[in-house]
Amino acid sequence: MASDSELIERIRTADDLPALEALRVSVLGKQGSITAQLKSLGSMDPETRAAEAPKIHALREAVTAAIAERKAALEAAELDRKLATETLDLSLPAPEAPRGTVHPVSQVMDELAEIFADLGFAVAEGPEIEEQWYNFTALNMPEFHPARAMQDTFYLEPRAEGEEPRVLRTHTSPVQIRAMQERGAPIRIIAPGRVYRSDSDATHTPMFHQIEGLVIDRAIHLGHLKWTLETFLRAFFERDDVVLRMRPSYFPFTEPSAEVDVGYTRDAKGKRIVGGSEGWMEVLGSGMVHPKVIAAAGLDPDEWQGFAFGTGVDRLAMLKYGMDDLRAFFDGDIRWLKHYGFRALDVPTLSGGVGA
Ligand code: PHE
Repeated sequence: MASDSELIERIRTADDLPALEALRVSVLGKQGSITAQLKSLGSMDPETRAAEAPKIHALREAVTAAIAERKAALEAAELDRKLATETLDLSLPAPEAPRGTVHPVSQVMDELAEIFADLGFAVAEGPEIEEQWYNFTALNMPEFHPARAMQDTFYLEPRAEGEEPRVLRTHTSPVQIRAMQERGAPIRIIAPGRVYRSDSDATHTPMFHQIEGLVIDRAIHLGHLKWTLETFLRAFFERDDVVLRMRPSYFPFTEPSAEVDVGYTRDAKGKRIVGGSEGWMEVLGSGMVHPKVIAAAGLDPDEWQGFAFGTGVDRLAMLKYGMDDLRAFFDGDIRWLKHYGFRALDVPTLSGGVGA
């Protein structure tokens, strides 16, 4: 058997933690050599025991201390080795955490804001609970206009005796008036937001979204309107073959007025795809702002003129992203939102593709 000093030396030079542990078991374990020496004390005569016991106990303490010291040294070395060899790449993307998606309506509004920002349009807003004057009167909508009827429009109870009932705005056009009042002319704005009509089927919900466009300056004409709509629809649908058709129409607040159709073709499944001109669908209302509207907003119609348009955001979303039931937009069904929603950090940009 190794001498005590050899034993201590072997402990001090143990190569690694498993070797040290094997050594510990061989001396201090149940069958260990020191354990055996301790056991042998019982069978010694008192004199021998008195002489041997302190030596054995001293040896055990020395060995225990040496093992603890070597263990600490080996562990520290192991940690140093890990620190030196293992690296953490902080530039790696973190695993994706589950989170919500951007609703297609919000996505399309962001896309439109991006497209129109590039054309120099600011974003304007107005209240959803609107005064009749802004929603109808200032927009040259006469008393007998069907939109004013109770069955088409949501009216609110007056707050005080004699107050004219306010309405849930039926379109975003009242923002034209508010924007001209607040910002004057020249002006170039879009106004996205919620609008309300008493209507409900697969393509109509009582609340839906519109986006209004308004340009007022000194020499704005119909050609500017046509170019703007063409540029916007091509950027939005991300196709160069988007064809427009302007049909004469009537809105009280524009003169002349035009309804705008986009051409579509059908894919193999018969689904309408914007682009080409196999068929036409109406996408927006537009026209040159009526002089009475410009005057109602406090501007001189002899000095200022321009165009306006309004279109349904939900409609545009359905056409671009292929949903067919408008009601599903507002059911809040998580499965629908997951399927049609957009990733939160995919901000639309013109250079990156607005719908990417
Ligand atoms: N406000 C009209 C509508 O809701 C759309 C429109 C806006 C038409 C601006 C002409 C000019 O149908």
